[in-house]
Amino acid sequence: MKNLTFQNGDTMPVLGLGTWKSTPGEVYTAVREAIKIGYRHIDCAAIYGNEKEIGTALTDAMNAGEVSREELWITSKLWNNAHGKGRVIPALNQTLNDLQLDYLDLYLIHWPVALRYSVVFPEKGDDFVSLSERPIEETWQEMEACVRKRLSRHIGVSNFSVKKLGDLASRSDIPPEMNQIELHPFLQQKEMLKWCAENNVHLTAYSPLGSKDRPSALKNKNEKSLLDDPIAQSVARQKACSTAQVLISWAIERGTAVIPKSVNSERLAENFRSPDIRLTLEEMDQLSKLDTHTRYVTGEFWSIPGSPYTLENLWD
Ligand code: A2P
Repeated sequence: MKNLTFQNGDTMPVLGLGTWKSTPGEVYTAVREAIKIGYRHIDCAAIYGNEKEIGTALTDAMNAGEVSREELWITSKLWNNAHGKGRVIPALNQTLNDLQLDYLDLYLIHWPVALRYSVVFPEKGDDFVSLSERPIEETWQEMEACVRKRLSRHIGVSNFSVKKLGDLASRSDIPPEMNQIELHPFLQQKEMLKWCAENNVHLTAYSPLGSKDRPSALKNKNEKSLLDDPIAQSVARQKACSTAQVLISWAIERGTAVIPKSVNSERLAENFRSPDIRLTLEEMDQLSKLDTHTRYVTGEFWSIPGSPYTLENLWD
Protein backbone atom coordinates (compact mmCIF):
# COMPACT_ATOMS: atom_id res chain seq x y z
CA MET A 1 0.00 0.00 0.00
CA LYS A 2 1.25 3.47 -0.93
CA ASN A 3 1.75 5.86 2.02
CA LEU A 4 1.80 9.57 2.73
CA THR A 5 4.90 10.51 4.72
CA PHE A 6 4.75 13.08 7.50
CA GLN A 7 7.51 15.49 8.57
CA ASN A 8 8.72 13.13 11.34
CA GLY A 9 8.81 10.11 9.00
CA ASP A 10 5.50 8.56 10.11
CA THR A 11 3.56 7.00 7.27
CA MET A 12 -0.19 6.90 6.67
CA PRO A 13 -1.66 4.39 4.18
CA VAL A 14 -3.27 6.39 1.36
CA LEU A 15 -6.39 4.24 1.35
CA GLY A 16 -8.45 4.33 4.51
CA LEU A 17 -11.88 3.15 5.57
CA GLY A 18 -14.48 5.91 5.93
CA THR A 19 -16.94 5.40 8.80
CA TRP A 20 -19.34 8.36 8.42
CA LYS A 21 -22.85 6.91 8.03
CA SER A 22 -21.75 3.43 9.16
CA THR A 23 -24.27 2.79 11.89
CA PRO A 24 -23.63 1.07 15.19
CA GLY A 25 -24.78 -2.44 14.37
CA GLU A 26 -22.93 -2.55 11.05
CA VAL A 27 -19.64 -0.77 11.70
CA TYR A 28 -18.20 -3.53 13.93
CA THR A 29 -18.39 -6.10 11.14
CA ALA A 30 -17.18 -3.57 8.57
CA VAL A 31 -14.05 -2.73 10.58
CA ARG A 32 -13.27 -6.38 11.39
CA GLU A 33 -13.74 -7.33 7.73
CA ALA A 34 -11.68 -4.33 6.54
CA ILE A 35 -8.76 -5.31 8.78
CA LYS A 36 -8.91 -8.90 7.51
CA ILE A 37 -8.81 -7.58 3.93
CA GLY A 38 -5.74 -5.47 4.75
CA TYR A 39 -7.02 -1.96 5.58
CA ARG A 40 -4.72 -0.34 8.14
CA HIS A 41 -6.14 3.20 8.12
CA ILE A 42 -9.53 3.89 9.71
CA ASP A 43 -11.11 7.34 9.60
CA CYS A 44 -13.37 8.14 12.55
CA ALA A 45 -15.07 11.12 14.22
CA ALA A 46 -16.86 11.65 17.52
CA ILE A 47 -19.96 13.01 15.75
CA TYR A 48 -20.41 9.81 13.71
CA GLY A 49 -21.76 8.24 16.90
CA ASN A 50 -20.02 4.91 16.32
CA GLU A 51 -16.58 5.20 17.94
CA LYS A 52 -17.49 2.82 20.80
CA GLU A 53 -18.32 0.05 18.36
CA ILE A 54 -15.22 0.78 16.28
CA GLY A 55 -13.21 0.56 19.52
CA THR A 56 -14.59 -2.90 20.23
CA ALA A 57 -13.75 -4.00 16.69
CA LEU A 58 -10.17 -2.67 16.94
CA THR A 59 -9.61 -4.32 20.30
CA ASP A 60 -11.02 -7.65 19.10
CA ALA A 61 -8.88 -7.53 15.95
CA MET A 62 -5.75 -6.81 18.01
CA ASN A 63 -6.59 -9.50 20.56
CA ALA A 64 -7.12 -11.97 17.73
CA GLY A 65 -3.58 -11.17 16.55
CA GLU A 66 -4.80 -9.83 13.19
CA VAL A 67 -3.10 -6.48 13.59
CA SER A 68 -1.03 -4.50 16.09
CA ARG A 69 -1.63 -0.93 17.24
CA GLU A 70 1.60 0.16 15.54
CA GLU A 71 0.35 -1.13 12.20
CA LEU A 72 -2.86 0.88 12.42
CA TRP A 73 -3.41 4.52 11.48
CA ILE A 74 -6.41 5.91 13.38
CA THR A 75 -7.79 9.38 12.67
CA SER A 76 -10.57 11.08 14.62
CA LYS A 77 -12.08 14.56 14.76
CA LEU A 78 -12.97 17.19 17.32
CA TRP A 79 -16.65 18.13 17.17
CA ASN A 80 -17.76 21.77 16.87
CA ASN A 81 -19.09 22.02 20.43
CA ALA A 82 -15.66 21.27 21.92
CA HIS A 83 -13.67 24.18 20.45
CA GLY A 84 -11.82 26.51 22.81
CA LYS A 85 -9.89 26.46 26.04
CA GLY A 86 -10.19 23.42 28.27
CA ARG A 87 -12.50 21.53 25.91
CA VAL A 88 -10.25 19.77 23.44
CA ILE A 89 -8.35 17.35 25.69
CA PRO A 90 -11.53 16.10 27.42
CA ALA A 91 -13.12 15.56 23.96
CA LEU A 92 -10.04 13.67 22.75
CA ASN A 93 -9.97 11.60 25.96
CA GLN A 94 -13.60 10.63 25.34
CA THR A 95 -12.72 9.55 21.79
CA LEU A 96 -9.70 7.57 23.05
CA ASN A 97 -11.87 5.95 25.67
CA ASP A 98 -14.50 5.02 23.08
CA LEU A 99 -11.90 3.73 20.62
CA GLN A 100 -10.09 1.90 23.48
CA LEU A 101 -6.78 3.47 22.43
CA ASP A 102 -3.94 5.28 24.23
CA TYR A 103 -3.24 7.63 21.35
CA LEU A 104 -4.50 8.68 17.93
CA ASP A 105 -2.33 8.94 14.86
CA LEU A 106 -4.17 12.04 13.68
CA TYR A 107 -6.68 14.38 15.31
CA LEU A 108 -8.51 16.96 13.20
CA ILE A 109 -10.68 20.01 13.90
CA HIS A 110 -13.80 18.73 12.12
CA TRP A 111 -15.14 22.11 10.90
CA PRO A 112 -14.10 25.77 11.22
CA VAL A 113 -17.44 26.26 12.98
CA ALA A 114 -18.07 26.58 16.73
CA LEU A 115 -21.24 25.60 18.60
CA ARG A 116 -22.28 26.26 22.18
CA TYR A 117 -21.00 23.51 24.49
CA SER A 118 -24.50 22.11 25.10
CA VAL A 119 -25.41 21.93 21.39
CA VAL A 120 -24.62 18.88 19.30
CA PHE A 121 -26.37 19.97 16.12
CA PRO A 122 -27.68 23.54 15.67
CA GLU A 123 -31.35 24.33 15.24
CA LYS A 124 -31.25 28.12 15.61
CA GLY A 125 -28.83 31.00 15.25
CA ASP A 126 -28.21 31.20 18.99
CA ASP A 127 -26.73 27.68 18.98
CA PHE A 128 -23.61 29.00 17.22
CA VAL A 129 -20.56 30.81 18.55
CA SER A 130 -18.70 33.00 16.06
CA LEU A 131 -15.02 32.50 15.32
CA SER A 132 -14.27 35.98 16.65
CA GLU A 133 -15.71 34.87 20.00
CA ARG A 134 -13.98 31.49 19.89
CA PRO A 135 -10.97 31.81 17.60
CA ILE A 136 -9.55 28.80 15.78
CA GLU A 137 -6.08 29.77 17.10
CA GLU A 138 -7.30 29.18 20.66
CA THR A 139 -8.65 25.74 19.73
CA TRP A 140 -5.43 25.03 17.83
CA GLN A 141 -3.29 25.72 20.92
CA GLU A 142 -5.28 22.97 22.65
CA MET A 143 -4.72 20.68 19.65
CA GLU A 144 -0.99 21.36 19.99
CA ALA A 145 -1.24 20.37 23.66
CA CYS A 146 -2.67 17.01 22.51
CA VAL A 147 0.58 16.36 20.60
CA ARG A 148 2.74 17.48 23.53
CA LYS A 149 0.83 15.15 25.84
CA ARG A 150 1.28 12.35 23.26
CA LEU A 151 -2.45 11.85 22.93
CA SER A 152 -2.19 12.32 19.16
CA ARG A 153 0.90 11.92 17.01
CA HIS A 154 -0.30 14.43 14.41
CA ILE A 155 -2.89 17.20 14.19
CA GLY A 156 -4.74 18.83 11.35
CA VAL A 157 -8.04 20.23 10.19
CA SER A 158 -11.00 19.35 8.02
CA ASN A 159 -13.20 21.48 5.78
CA PHE A 160 -10.72 24.38 5.84
CA SER A 161 -10.33 26.79 2.90
CA VAL A 162 -6.86 27.76 1.64
CA LYS A 163 -7.31 31.10 3.40
CA LYS A 164 -8.15 29.56 6.78
CA LEU A 165 -5.38 26.98 6.43
CA GLY A 166 -2.81 29.66 5.56
CA ASP A 167 -3.90 31.87 8.47
CA LEU A 168 -3.63 28.98 10.89
CA ALA A 169 -0.30 27.70 9.53
CA SER A 170 1.24 31.16 9.89
CA ARG A 171 0.18 31.48 13.54
CA SER A 172 0.86 28.00 14.90
CA ASP A 173 3.79 26.41 16.73
CA ILE A 174 2.92 23.00 15.28
CA PRO A 175 1.55 23.62 11.78
CA PRO A 176 -1.48 21.62 10.59
CA GLU A 177 -0.25 18.57 8.68
CA MET A 178 -3.56 17.49 7.12
CA ASN A 179 -6.70 19.03 5.64
CA GLN A 180 -9.50 16.52 5.10
CA ILE A 181 -11.90 17.88 2.51
CA GLU A 182 -14.44 16.77 -0.05
CA LEU A 183 -12.54 15.84 -3.23
CA HIS A 184 -13.67 13.94 -6.32
CA PRO A 185 -13.81 14.62 -10.07
CA PHE A 186 -16.82 16.99 -9.67
CA LEU A 187 -14.90 18.99 -6.98
CA GLN A 188 -11.19 18.85 -7.81
CA GLN A 189 -10.01 21.90 -5.80
CA LYS A 190 -6.82 22.32 -7.84
CA GLU A 191 -5.80 25.53 -6.07
CA MET A 192 -6.00 23.72 -2.70
CA LEU A 193 -3.85 20.86 -4.05
CA LYS A 194 -1.21 23.30 -5.25
CA TRP A 195 -1.17 25.26 -1.97
CA CYS A 196 -0.92 22.11 0.13
CA ALA A 197 1.91 20.67 -2.01
CA GLU A 198 3.85 23.92 -1.59
CA ASN A 199 3.22 24.12 2.16
CA ASN A 200 3.74 20.54 3.36
CA VAL A 201 0.09 19.88 4.14
CA HIS A 202 -1.37 16.51 3.14
CA LEU A 203 -4.93 16.14 1.86
CA THR A 204 -7.50 13.42 2.51
CA ALA A 205 -10.41 13.11 0.07
CA TYR A 206 -13.78 12.51 1.73
CA SER A 207 -16.98 11.51 -0.08
CA PRO A 208 -14.83 10.15 -2.94
CA LEU A 209 -17.77 8.10 -4.28
CA GLY A 210 -20.32 10.90 -4.02
CA SER A 211 -21.67 9.93 -0.62
CA LYS A 212 -24.96 8.64 -2.00
CA ASP A 213 -26.06 7.21 1.36
CA ARG A 214 -26.15 10.51 3.23
CA PRO A 215 -29.47 11.56 4.77
CA SER A 216 -31.95 13.03 2.29
CA ALA A 217 -31.97 16.31 4.26
CA LEU A 218 -28.33 16.73 3.20
CA LYS A 219 -29.04 15.99 -0.47
CA ASN A 220 -29.62 18.55 -3.18
CA LYS A 221 -32.51 18.10 -5.56
CA ASN A 222 -31.34 16.89 -8.99
CA GLU A 223 -27.78 16.25 -7.80
CA LYS A 224 -25.65 14.35 -10.27
CA SER A 225 -24.43 10.90 -9.26
CA LEU A 226 -20.67 10.47 -9.46
CA LEU A 227 -20.87 6.69 -9.78
CA ASP A 228 -23.29 7.09 -12.72
CA ASP A 229 -21.15 9.62 -14.57
CA PRO A 230 -20.75 8.42 -18.21
CA ILE A 231 -17.07 9.48 -18.48
CA ALA A 232 -16.08 7.81 -15.19
CA GLN A 233 -18.00 4.73 -16.34
CA SER A 234 -16.29 4.69 -19.72
CA VAL A 235 -12.84 4.90 -18.06
CA ALA A 236 -13.93 1.96 -15.89
CA ARG A 237 -14.87 -0.02 -19.01
CA GLN A 238 -11.48 0.75 -20.62
CA LYS A 239 -9.77 -0.50 -17.44
CA ALA A 240 -12.11 -3.47 -16.91
CA CYS A 241 -12.69 -2.34 -13.34
CA SER A 242 -15.54 -0.69 -11.42
CA THR A 243 -16.39 3.02 -11.47
CA ALA A 244 -15.74 3.19 -7.71
CA GLN A 245 -12.23 1.82 -8.31
CA VAL A 246 -11.61 4.51 -10.95
CA LEU A 247 -12.68 7.23 -8.51
CA ILE A 248 -10.49 5.89 -5.69
CA SER A 249 -7.52 5.42 -8.00
CA TRP A 250 -8.01 9.00 -9.33
CA ALA A 251 -7.62 10.35 -5.77
CA ILE A 252 -4.46 8.31 -5.19
CA GLU A 253 -2.92 9.37 -8.53
CA ARG A 254 -3.37 12.99 -7.38
CA GLY A 255 -1.25 12.31 -4.27
CA THR A 256 -4.08 12.50 -1.73
CA ALA A 257 -5.29 9.98 0.79
CA VAL A 258 -8.85 8.73 0.22
CA ILE A 259 -11.43 7.23 2.58
CA PRO A 260 -14.29 5.47 0.75
CA LYS A 261 -16.96 4.26 3.16
CA SER A 262 -18.44 0.79 2.86
CA VAL A 263 -20.10 -1.68 5.18
CA ASN A 264 -20.31 -4.37 2.52
CA SER A 265 -17.59 -7.01 2.42
CA GLU A 266 -17.44 -7.32 -1.37
CA ARG A 267 -17.27 -3.56 -1.87
CA LEU A 268 -14.67 -3.25 0.92
CA ALA A 269 -12.49 -5.76 -0.97
CA GLU A 270 -13.18 -4.12 -4.33
CA ASN A 271 -12.24 -0.68 -2.99
CA PHE A 272 -9.07 -2.06 -1.40
CA ARG A 273 -7.86 -3.27 -4.80
CA SER A 274 -8.17 0.24 -6.33
CA PRO A 275 -4.51 1.26 -5.85
CA ASP A 276 -3.56 -1.52 -8.30
CA ILE A 277 -5.48 0.30 -11.03
CA ARG A 278 -3.06 2.84 -12.47
CA LEU A 279 -4.81 5.47 -14.54
CA THR A 280 -2.93 6.78 -17.57
CA LEU A 281 -2.37 10.52 -18.13
CA GLU A 282 -5.02 10.35 -20.83
CA GLU A 283 -7.55 8.78 -18.44
CA MET A 284 -6.71 11.37 -15.73
CA ASP A 285 -7.22 14.03 -18.38
CA GLN A 286 -10.67 12.68 -19.30
CA LEU A 287 -11.67 12.77 -15.60
CA SER A 288 -10.22 16.25 -15.09
CA LYS A 289 -12.83 17.56 -17.53
CA LEU A 290 -15.57 16.67 -15.02
CA ASP A 291 -14.81 19.51 -12.59
CA THR A 292 -18.07 21.38 -11.98
CA HIS A 293 -16.93 22.67 -8.55
CA THR A 294 -19.95 20.93 -7.04
CA ARG A 295 -20.06 19.97 -3.38
CA TYR A 296 -22.24 17.16 -2.05
CA VAL A 297 -21.56 18.34 1.52
CA THR A 298 -22.40 22.01 1.04
CA GLY A 299 -22.19 23.13 4.68
CA GLU A 300 -25.65 24.73 4.36
CA PHE A 301 -26.53 23.33 7.81
CA TRP A 302 -24.11 25.92 9.27
CA SER A 303 -25.74 28.87 7.54
CA ILE A 304 -29.26 28.71 8.99
CA PRO A 305 -30.99 32.05 9.81
CA GLY A 306 -29.24 33.93 12.61
CA SER A 307 -25.98 31.96 12.29
CA PRO A 308 -22.74 33.96 12.03
CA TYR A 309 -21.64 31.45 9.38
CA THR A 310 -22.51 31.88 5.71
CA LEU A 311 -21.47 29.75 2.75
CA GLU A 312 -19.28 32.68 1.67
CA ASN A 313 -17.37 32.94 4.96
CA LEU A 314 -17.25 29.13 5.37
CA TRP A 315 -15.58 28.44 2.02
CA ASP A 316 -13.66 31.74 1.78
P1 A2P B 1 -22.07 0.47 1.16
O1 A2P B 1 -21.62 0.97 2.49
O2 A2P B 1 -23.35 -0.28 1.21
O3 A2P B 1 -20.98 -0.27 0.41
P2 A2P B 1 -18.66 7.84 0.12
O4 A2P B 1 -17.43 7.08 0.50
O5 A2P B 1 -18.44 8.80 -1.01
O6 A2P B 1 -19.33 8.48 1.31
O7 A2P B 1 -19.70 6.80 -0.46
C1 A2P B 1 -20.27 5.80 0.34
C2 A2P B 1 -21.41 5.16 -0.42
O8 A2P B 1 -20.89 4.44 -1.55
C3 A2P B 1 -22.17 4.17 0.41
O9 A2P B 1 -23.53 4.19 0.01
C4 A2P B 1 -21.52 2.83 0.05
O10 A2P B 1 -22.43 1.76 0.23
C5 A2P B 1 -21.25 3.04 -1.43
N1 A2P B 1 -20.12 2.26 -1.93
C6 A2P B 1 -18.96 1.95 -1.30
N2 A2P B 1 -18.15 1.25 -2.10
C7 A2P B 1 -18.80 1.10 -3.28
C8 A2P B 1 -18.50 0.45 -4.51
N3 A2P B 1 -17.34 -0.17 -4.69
N4 A2P B 1 -19.43 0.50 -5.50
C9 A2P B 1 -20.61 1.12 -5.32
N5 A2P B 1 -20.96 1.76 -4.18
C10 A2P B 1 -20.07 1.75 -3.17
